[in-house]
Amino acid sequence: MSAVKIPGISAPPSTAYKIVDVPENYRDVIQRHGLPGTFVGPSLEESPWVPFGEKAAIRHLAFDPRNNTFGNILWIKKAGVIGTHKHRGTVVMVCLEGSARYLEYDWVAGPGDFIYETPGLVHTLVSDHPEGCKLFGWLHGATEFYDEQGKFIETLDVWWFINHYETYCRENGIPINKQLYL
Ligand SMILES: [Fe+2]
Repeated sequence: MSAVKIPGISAPPSTAYKIVDVPENYRDVIQRHGLPGTFVGPSLEESPWVPFGEKAAIRHLAFDPRNNTFGNILWIKKAGVIGTHKHRGTVVMVCLEGSARYLEYDWVAGPGDFIYETPGLVHTLVSDHPEGCKLFGWLHGATEFYDEQGKFIETLDVWWFINHYETYCRENGIPINKQLYL
């Protein structure tokens, strides 16, 4: 008996450069309850670089308070240390520029490299690159920061990140961008 061949595609059909109307049984439900998605462009008005200590800044991109999830770009401006932290959730990161690593591991992330972190990991983020690095991060849950004696300092969760963004906007006369709130 020969195996049943399941039809599939090797790539999406891509012949029509147009908006195509597709079937949807629950269009009205989606219209009532669905979320429109979001877009944040490159301008500092859309989202500024908010200082994160002396040698780093964060460009906030998304806050999802229902899921304690948030997205941003962390910019370490020159070679230096960000600090020892423990994750209580999962982190997805892509290095955009420069390089970064953790003192605890033997790899170095450069542009395009992918990093996945899981709850319970404790590590110390550094950049040895003279121009630092930019890291896109999609974080779920809280991150706990510790000092060099291992003493707990503070929990950074979605509320901390929203406050970080809004405080800077208020102090600098930048309008709050609703697109950041999922
Ligand atoms: Fe981390």
